[in-house]
Amino acid sequence: MWYSATKVGITEIDMDHSNIDTMLQLYFSDRIPKTYLEQIIRSLIRHFDHEEEVIAGLGREFPADHKLEHARLSQLFEEMLAAWKANELNGNDAAEEVRSLLLLHVVEFDVQLGQSSG
Ligand SMILES: [Fe+2]
Ligand SMILES: [Fe+2]
Repeated sequence: MWYSATKVGITEIDMDHSNIDTMLQLYFSDRIPKTYLEQIIRSLIRHFDHEEEVIAGLGREFPADHKLEHARLSQLFEEMLAAWKANELNGNDAAEEVRSLLLLHVVEFDVQLGQSSG
């Protein structure tokens, strides 16, 4: 567990995080083809949009700094994907980097979404 190690307290968001962890776990377990990395990264970028939609659905404004961080990470993940496709980046290194970025993101940003809901 990485992204879902810290619970946000909003079911739809925690479920997304848990699904992303499952994908990463599968990736590291070597039970799926390494080409799956692209799907993981696409799912992550979709998750950022979904997270913003869930908060909007609760009638709340999504924090601007958090939205900017989603854009920054999406761009970074796209660059990593391009580097991996060009054989300039090892898939496992990319997945490790994604894992640590998500660990930071959930404690620095996502957790605040739950705290400000009560
Ligand atoms: Fe998230
Ligand atoms: Fe987020």
